Amino acid sequence: MSNTLNIEKHPLTKQRVFKKKNIKKFYIETLGCQMNVADSELIIAMLNNEGFIKSESPQNSDLIFINTCSIRERAEEKVHSQLGRWDKIKKNKPEVIIGVLGCMAQNLKQDILENRPFVDIVLGPDSYRKLPEIIKRSINDEESIVDTKLSRYEVYEGLFPKRKGGVNAWISIMRGCDKFCTFCIVPFTRGRERSRNIDSIVKEAEDAVYNGFRELTLLGQNVNSFKYNDYKFHDLLEIISQISGVDRIRYTSPHPQDISDELLDIMQKYDNICNYIHLPLQSGSDKILKRMHRSYSKDDFLSLAKKIRQTLPGVGISTDIIVGFPGETEEDFLETISVMEDVKFDSAFNFKYSPRIGTKASEYEDQILETIKQKRLEKVINLQKEHSILRNKKLIGSTQTILVEKQSKMSPDHWAGRTDSNKWVIFSKGKVKLNEMVKVSILDSKGVSLKGELVSEVKAA
Ligand code: 5AD
Ligand code: SF4
Repeated sequence: MSNTLNIEKHPLTKQRVFKKKNIKKFYIETLGCQMNVADSELIIAMLNNEGFIKSESPQNSDLIFINTCSIRERAEEKVHSQLGRWDKIKKNKPEVIIGVLGCMAQNLKQDILENRPFVDIVLGPDSYRKLPEIIKRSINDEESIVDTKLSRYEVYEGLFPKRKGGVNAWISIMRGCDKFCTFCIVPFTRGRERSRNIDSIVKEAEDAVYNGFRELTLLGQNVNSFKYNDYKFHDLLEIISQISGVDRIRYTSPHPQDISDELLDIMQKYDNICNYIHLPLQSGSDKILKRMHRSYSKDDFLSLAKKIRQTLPGVGISTDIIVGFPGETEEDFLETISVMEDVKFDSAFNFKYSPRIGTKASEYEDQILETIKQKRLEKVINLQKEHSILRNKKLIGSTQTILVEKQSKMSPDHWAGRTDSNKWVIFSKGKVKLNEMVKVSILDSKGVSLKGELVSEVKAA
């Protein structure tokens, strides 16, 4: 068969036992970041267009996909344990086609092919367009099909995602990352930075609003490095904020280096741009930041956080922190604690450093013992809990505008929704419905969320 798709067929894999012609149903599981959620929505749209039907269970499906993440070892372990379960499905139903998609496919294709020979398709994040064609070939083919070529251009222009219902639409505006932080696998799995055409982003945003989504979240590995012709990220944000019917706009994940004054001004100017910034610190030690290749110092970060709090009163600031990066001494770790004490983040995602093969930091010789990493992680988690509670308590007595997002896990009689500063508030349902914007008076702070009481409905959906 001629290889018109420019894909690899992998010789290591075994023969498929049965061939099935009327493959219809697919299941897709998504691990990892919001970019993966958005990518899965593109994949679902593409497969629906080709007549495949999404199923909610792998057991009932002809095609089973996992959209994978490689950011830390734990994420990869999850993929392996899921593949172990799917191997059993395949033993009972050999005609099932199993596909590993996304970052881990990119990063570990050889490992997957050698150790999981029942996997039929391995596709990296820039190859999804080929999926329908590859499925057709895979039905008749006896070897695994692999495509992990990264592209300098692929932004999936012209493909529009199939979104689950809900209040928030993810809109991918750029892909890839050129920052090469020494701990991070993303530049290797997702390739070089490239931004989408601004007209196409605006059209997608307008469509999402037309389809009832009240909140839009602009997505990118380095979202604020967006650049299209003369348009920078803040220009895009301003254009999106003027689309009629957009109640809330969020974006993630930015890099502190690219938080410009213009961006803060635009955030201040438009009410529908949420008063929230994710500001990944990673470490508070200048020595470690340098080794991480993070391009800012502790003081730069502190000044930026101060400027953000001054420009945007009431802003919610969250962060990412890595403990136990190679060479991190107790003094370095205390520098991280000192930034936490100074900024008092509203929330934080805290991680133990996880060596990723192929990254520079994984080759550093002064790796930190697991027991030390664990102790430091516990310290930052506990400190952050205190700070989150402290920040949340400041809202008690205030009235907040909440977008009703889902039923509270605590009780079927309560809704959960967020303030524009990204804090979860739980309140009795009253007569309001999902997707409405309501005023809620904040009564109490319960752990990391808030408890409130409906004041009145602001604007019906
Ligand atoms: N180990 C631990 N955490 C990591 N992150 C990225 N790579 C690693 C790694 N190798 C964290 C960073 C980043 C977030 C998305 O994941 O904090 O901001
Ligand atoms: Fe990874 Fe750094 Fe790029 Fe973020 S900026 S995706 S941490 S390399």
